[in-house]
Amino acid sequence: MRYIWLIGLCATAALAEQPILFPHNKHMALGLECLDCHSTADTRAAAGMPSVRKCMLCHEKLATDRPGVKQVRDYAARKLEIPWIRVYGFSPSALVKFRHAPHYRANIDCTTCHGEVAKATVAEATVTHNMGTCLSCHRQKKATEDCVACHY
Ligand code: HEC
Ligand code: HEC
Ligand code: HEC
Ligand code: HEC
Ligand code: HEC
Repeated sequence: MRYIWLIGLCATAALAEQPILFPHNKHMALGLECLDCHSTADTRAAAGMPSVRKCMLCHEKLATDRPGVKQVRDYAARKLEIPWIRVYGFSPSALVKFRHAPHYRANIDCTTCHGEVAKATVAEATVTHNMGTCLSCHRQKKATEDCVACHY
């Protein structure tokens, strides 16, 4: 909890215009887990974004009258992926290599770095990530402070 507070101090609230308003809260209320959609957060560098095919496992039949769901079905019918706009990330010039897997293995909860996504109606960058926030946790947890661990 202490880290949430620490990192939350420098929170920003940038809101991207997403192609479809995807409500995390309504989906988490169905009993889904983060890894059901971001399925490589436990094993790979990237957490991964769900393919529209995954959405269609439910939206073939469920909530088909909703305007947002109609948009989802339209992408699927045209065999196009939904062009989600990224919320978190670093400028390519900073040459950062972030990896989810070691953090998952170290039992750091998604909320520590992404806030209460499960309650969000739209994904927002509620937690700021920069070299300072990475290093302050790495120091406390005795994780690496080696430049080449985090930079290409
Ligand atoms: C496990 C089944 C399931 C999956 C998988 C699923 N949804 Fe849904 N979705 C639902 C249900 C059920 C509702 C209606 C929920 C409600 O109204 O509380 C819903 C509602 C929605 C809505 C309408 C929300 C609103 O407020 O009207 C959108 C948009 C949506 N889903 C998009 C997606 C997208 C995009 C994906 C894939 C990334 C996806 N869903 C995956 C079950 C699912
Ligand atoms: C039903 C599928 C689904 C589930 C379950 C789900 N997400 Fe998502 N997530 C999405 C979709 C679709 C987007 C892109 C839309 C957006 O950014 O609002 C997204 C975006 C995000 C983003 C923003 C990524 C970026 O940088 O653009 C984060 C962070 C995130 N999810 C974390 C979580 C966490 C944490 C959980 C569990 C509490 C979770 N998600 C559960 C589908 C899902
Ligand atoms: C130690 C901090 C940290 C933790 C813990 C963490 N993330 Fe992330 N996440 C980040 C950072 C930083 C980025 C941006 C990385 C980049 O662009 O290189 C990111 C990006 C993402 C993205 C964007 C797309 C992608 O494929 O990476 C999603 C989705 C996401 N995280 C979901 C999750 C979920 C779900 C969990 C929990 C299982 C989680 N994150 C745990 C820091 C974290
Ligand atoms: C809340 C604490 C926390 C935050 C915030 C955090 N990390 Fe970590 N990080 C850890 C822990 C704990 C480990 C695992 C150490 C271990 O396995 O010995 C780790 C491991 C890593 C590794 C793997 C190192 C290796 O030796 O293989 C990388 C790379 C990394 N973090 C990068 C980052 C970056 C970049 C950020 C900022 C965007 C960040 N971390 C933010 C706690 C954190
Ligand atoms: C725990 C992870 C981590 C470690 C260790 C780390 N950095 Fe960083 N560093 C980052 C992140 C994340 C950023 C991107 C910050 C941002 O986008 O605001 C960054 C940004 C930078 C930048 C600015 C690049 C730019 O173009 O904005 C420089 C320079 C830099 N780091 C050098 C170093 C050096 C030198 C070391 C070793 C002494 C080091 N870093 C160790 C995570 C780390």
